[in-house]
Amino acid sequence: MRWNPSLVCTVAFCALAGQVADATITADFTSNASIKQAAATVAKDLMAWYTGMNPGDVPGNLPSPYYWWECGAMFNTMINYWYYTGDTTYNPRTTQALVAQIGENTAFMPQNQTQSEGNDDQGFWGMAAMTAAETNYPPAPAPAPGWLALAQGVWTTQQGRWAEASAYCNGGLRWQIYPFNNGYNYKNSISNGCFFNLGARLALYTGNQTYADWAIKTFDWVYDVGLMSPTYQIFDGTQIADNCTAKDHNTWSYNAGIYLVGAASMYNYTNGSAEWHDRVSGILNTTVSTFFVNGVMQELCEPSGKCNVDQRSFKAYLSRWMAATAKLAPFTAPTIMPLLQSSAEAALKTCTVGGGNTQCGLMWTTGANDGSYGVGEEMSVLEVVQSNLLPTVPGWASAAKGTGNSTGDISAGTKSDTGDTPLVLSPITTGDRVGAVFLTALALVGVIGGTATMMVTEA
Ligand SMILES: *[C@@H]1O[C@H](CO)[C@@H](O)[C@H](O)[C@H]1NC(C)=O
Ligand SMILES: *[C@@H]1O[C@H](CO)[C@@H](O)[C@H](O)[C@H]1NC(C)=O
Ligand SMILES: *[C@@H]1O[C@H](CO)[C@@H](O)[C@H](O)[C@H]1NC(C)=O
Ligand SMILES: *[C@@H]1O[C@H](CO)[C@@H](O)[C@H](O)[C@H]1NC(C)=O
Ligand SMILES: *[C@@H]1O[C@H](CO)[C@@H](O)[C@H](O)[C@H]1NC(C)=O
Ligand SMILES: *[C@@H]1O[C@H](CO)[C@@H](O)[C@H](O)[C@H]1NC(C)=O
Ligand SMILES: *[C@@H]1O[C@H](CO)[C@@H](O)[C@H](O)[C@H]1NC(C)=O
Ligand SMILES: *[C@@H]1O[C@H](CO)[C@@H](O)[C@H](O)[C@H]1NC(C)=O
Repeated sequence: MRWNPSLVCTVAFCALAGQVADATITADFTSNASIKQAAATVAKDLMAWYTGMNPGDVPGNLPSPYYWWECGAMFNTMINYWYYTGDTTYNPRTTQALVAQIGENTAFMPQNQTQSEGNDDQGFWGMAAMTAAETNYPPAPAPAPGWLALAQGVWTTQQGRWAEASAYCNGGLRWQIYPFNNGYNYKNSISNGCFFNLGARLALYTGNQTYADWAIKTFDWVYDVGLMSPTYQIFDGTQIADNCTAKDHNTWSYNAGIYLVGAASMYNYTNGSAEWHDRVSGILNTTVSTFFVNGVMQELCEPSGKCNVDQRSFKAYLSRWMAATAKLAPFTAPTIMPLLQSSAEAALKTCTVGGGNTQCGLMWTTGANDGSYGVGEEMSVLEVVQSNLLPTVPGWASAAKGTGNSTGDISAGTKSDTGDTPLVLSPITTGDRVGAVFLTALALVGVIGGTATMMVTEA
């Protein structure tokens, strides 16, 4: 994810006052068919933002202002859309996008993105591939690697970055992969959350204890360093300059969700251990008290009106992962399912703007559109609505249990990526030279300043 201080509403993706009409998506949550129908409308409106399948466009990229990571996150939502509804309409462009962004190292590090890619950006694409394996989403045609291999590739590159990063703060991944990027000296909960989440899910899918060991190690580090409090508040991150003492205390729903479903995967993997039961229960309790207002999900930046483009999509991930948790740790379902329903009902009330009067807004707690719409808003509403179809789908598949057959590859991600060596780039053009000078300048600031403080001011 990128530093993105104050981009909120621009005319390019916000509703103009006066356009607000009556709600045009209605859903009867006592009918699976009705939920599917509502999801189909929201899915169509979400995919209307995507142009990557058009000739001459780039599959797997969204137009500005949406960053590359969010496109990976969006296609995870589309895999889930297929899983929950059986509607295959968007599968061709979903598969095309995922395959286009694989990169030479089978780890979602494509040449065009690698230089500015963070562990979290890569992690969101990796988790999309993991979801494809877990839901038995159809494999991409040969010679594309299996979905499992892609998730393993991402995990393997990140595991390879741990040793270097561990020289600081006794463990934990850095936010950024490369030293020339702002944020290299920051260790954040979302990057470590992606690695924890993937490890726990790979353990569950493959039965390979190595992944579980690393998931435990990562969870323990996050807890011990204080990014997760004893009451399961999860903070944004911490700088290595002071040995990870001070914290950025911002709390985000995607951090709650990523640790919740990782813990639920470990709970399931350990056949219901008391330790992971307690963690799932604790994270869920704090998630509910932090991110729900009268049963409706809310990002903490909403009341101030200062959610940036990235943050506008976070409720998609909390919805996605709460639903998965209800399956993996069934004792949570009586708490989770009613909240997903009340949130979905509230969310649909915001879907009254845009050309067709069905695009959705950000603030579900208000009972009306708040004047915004965009990819993040749409994706969040789609995930929370389709999550209500959870009782109609099987739980995640697993090769270890004989229910999943995605092709894996433990050598994916092992090609020349030590975390410090950028991939060989294409021949330098004038445009790239400008970029290179800029990157060098940033690197110098990093060296001279020693510990250039990251300018994160997420509200
Ligand atoms: C949806 O389908 C599931 C599984 O068939 C069923 O258990 C559930 O009762 C249905 N829900 C509604 C609201 O009809
Ligand atoms: C890579 O970036 C260049 C320059 O922005 C663009 O023209 C090209 O289409 C991109 N290719 C891919 C595969 O992303
Ligand atoms: C840094 O913090 C870790 C615990 O997070 C501690 O084990 C280590 O000794 C500290 N190092 C320094 C140099 O203070
Ligand atoms: C969970 O139970 C299964 C089936 O009894 C067993 O094969 C597996 O080893 C158990 N897993 C763990 C982590 O104890
Ligand atoms: C979470 O809340 C439930 C219901 O209040 C309670 O029974 C449970 O002990 C709590 N879990 C933890 C870990 O505090
Ligand atoms: C693990 O998840 C499956 C659904 O995928 C569920 O049926 C099973 O009960 C879960 N195991 C435990 C120990 O809760
Ligand atoms: C897994 O099984 C399904 C159903 O039999 C099949 O369609 C699919 O091609 C298989 N996937 C792989 C990777 O073999
Ligand atoms: C388990 O995963 C680790 C990490 O990729 C790998 O080194 C090991 O060979 C795997 N074990 C098996 C039995 O596949």
